[in-house]
Amino acid sequence: MSESRDDVAARVSELREQIDEHNRRYHALAAPTVSDAEYDRLFRELVELEKAHPELISPLSPTQRVGARPDGGLSKVRHDRPMLSLENAMNDEEFEQFDRRVAKALDIADQAVAYYAEPKFDGVAVCIVYRGGELARAATRGDGEVGEDITLNVRTIKSVPLRLAEAVDLEVRGEVYIARADFEKLSADGVVNSTGKPFVNPRNAAAGSLRQLDPAITAARPLAFFCYDATPATCERHDEWLGRLRDLGLPVCRSGAAVADAPAGLEYFRGTLDDRAAREYDMDGVVFKVNDRGVWERLGARARAPRWAVALKFPAEEAEARIEDIEFQVGRTGQLTPVARLTPVFVGGVTVSNVSLHNMDEIKRKDIRKGDTVLVRRAGDVIPQVVKVLEDKRPDDARRVSLPERCPAGCGGAIEVRSDAGAYCANTRTCPAQLRRRLEHFAMRDAMNIDGLGEKLIDSLVQEGFVANVADLYGLASRRDELTQLPGLSDISVANLLAAIEASRARELHPCIYALGIPEVGKTTAALLARELGNFAALREADADSLVGIPDIGDIVARRIREYFDDEENRAVIERLRDELPALRRMDAPRPATTGPLSGETYVLTGKLHEMTRPDASRQLEALGARVVKTVSSRTTAVIAGDKPGSKADKADSLGVKVLDEAALKALLAKAHGAQASATDEAEP
Ligand code: IVH
Repeated sequence: MSESRDDVAARVSELREQIDEHNRRYHALAAPTVSDAEYDRLFRELVELEKAHPELISPLSPTQRVGARPDGGLSKVRHDRPMLSLENAMNDEEFEQFDRRVAKALDIADQAVAYYAEPKFDGVAVCIVYRGGELARAATRGDGEVGEDITLNVRTIKSVPLRLAEAVDLEVRGEVYIARADFEKLSADGVVNSTGKPFVNPRNAAAGSLRQLDPAITAARPLAFFCYDATPATCERHDEWLGRLRDLGLPVCRSGAAVADAPAGLEYFRGTLDDRAAREYDMDGVVFKVNDRGVWERLGARARAPRWAVALKFPAEEAEARIEDIEFQVGRTGQLTPVARLTPVFVGGVTVSNVSLHNMDEIKRKDIRKGDTVLVRRAGDVIPQVVKVLEDKRPDDARRVSLPERCPAGCGGAIEVRSDAGAYCANTRTCPAQLRRRLEHFAMRDAMNIDGLGEKLIDSLVQEGFVANVADLYGLASRRDELTQLPGLSDISVANLLAAIEASRARELHPCIYALGIPEVGKTTAALLARELGNFAALREADADSLVGIPDIGDIVARRIREYFDDEENRAVIERLRDELPALRRMDAPRPATTGPLSGETYVLTGKLHEMTRPDASRQLEALGARVVKTVSSRTTAVIAGDKPGSKADKADSLGVKVLDEAALKALLAKAHGAQASATDEAEP
């Protein structure tokens, strides 16, 4: 006789509760009370019952972690409260400064501040919303205000409960990560990122896995989660609150601890650093939060980071590596960059096998030789660098390197050493290495955004003589049949490439300027030139003096721009590009200068402000007609210096430019606002 429907429904809900409870004990409390086999038996029973009675399936069932996403990308979500970042302390002293600042702000300069200390997990920040104890929504951090909806992906993470132990409303914050051993396994299994390359470290793998459009792919990745906070909190002390979150079933890291004062915090930091290699997960420092949550609001936030927390970062990792060879790479301007090929070393979370040595001066200064063993440093996302040579490890046959006499790319070009001390291949006309780099740059996302024009394709286009300069790309459409004959190029990839080239004709002026690859003209400068000059002809004809008249354009940049446009060969390519790219032909006027009480004045902001952020100050100044630029020159009206102003204030002093503090800035803004208001009053009869 078959069981009644009610009995089945009751058993199904009993199984779900049991499984949820076992998940909580395993993931949050780290105290499982059943064997894996027993857990699997319960889980299979539930799967079978749901299969036989599909009407009983609910999205909250532990069997239903993997859902299907409707077509389309990840949608945007506005966070209820902004997701802030953390201020960094780079050493003990900066941490002690933070501690003193907190005590002072709390008016207890003579008393110890107690903190909650916890690893800074090297993963991806997420925000998970529970309504009535049920997982309702999960999002990435995004820009802190608006993130992406990754609910379906986060549901697949086994340590994230779909249902909390109580029916509470909570906004949970934490870090999604991949354990180191799981990452090793993932790599060994040959799982690769969206560009077909192996993931460089667990954090990148976690980030890539979390943003998959298909949750089934995310589900197959070994993602895990640590919860480090949630609101609204119902405890006064942070350590108690985390204990409560753990009881609700959230996985709170067990190695966090309350510390009585800053010295105890430093002790915790050193213990964590020593234990780093033994941990299951990557960390890049220790986060300290004032343990008394009651004062968080009083301490408030500065710019994008709260004043009640700090991240004390681990020192950059260093490792020894042997230089097998030193080669010279040719860049898009012909400049040679020496690159050390290393015996691969694992440092700062990635395997490093190439390190740029920048230029010959650097090689001489550090006396780097082929065969040397060197100390390589890498911190966070920073590019690796050679710290120094370990001279006692220098073998007898270590060899100094010198500049090649001819272009190392084999074009036969002579090598010139220019006034900037850089060495260049003089064969700008036909050097294939320069052409390749120029094409790569031209196709970049922030330049002409020609998707699909990658390294390999560029190699064959150059080798087979299809393109000899960037303008030739726009002639490829008429050679479609020949292109499809190229080895490794399918009809579809040719069609995609031609479509991307076609689409690039619609690019605006500033990416086109950037795409030209004018030395010293990066994205920001290209945008500045486009805005200030309005059209391409004005840029092409501008003399160095008028370029220097643009704020933030210095002598060197102006000179490079002039040299670029004076070069006959560049002029020829540009003439052809103008036929293809409407943005280079338009004759728009420059952006009208904002008028206001501060028009004609130029300010530079530096250091930390307290009552407003630097972007806020910038916006206010600009709204009043002033320009805000990055570099100090004799034309600067004043430098506004907050805390730790650094070299810009020094430069102002040496140029005799006024330096204003935050109070003076406030006075200036108030006065200008007043002037603007009375001007508007007069204008409105
Ligand atoms: S607390 C407003 N605690 O670090 C303070 N953040 O630089 C919120 N992070 O993207 C952060 N481990 O996701 C906190 N134990 C920890 C953390 C942590 C890693 C990340 C966080 C954020 C970044 C802030």
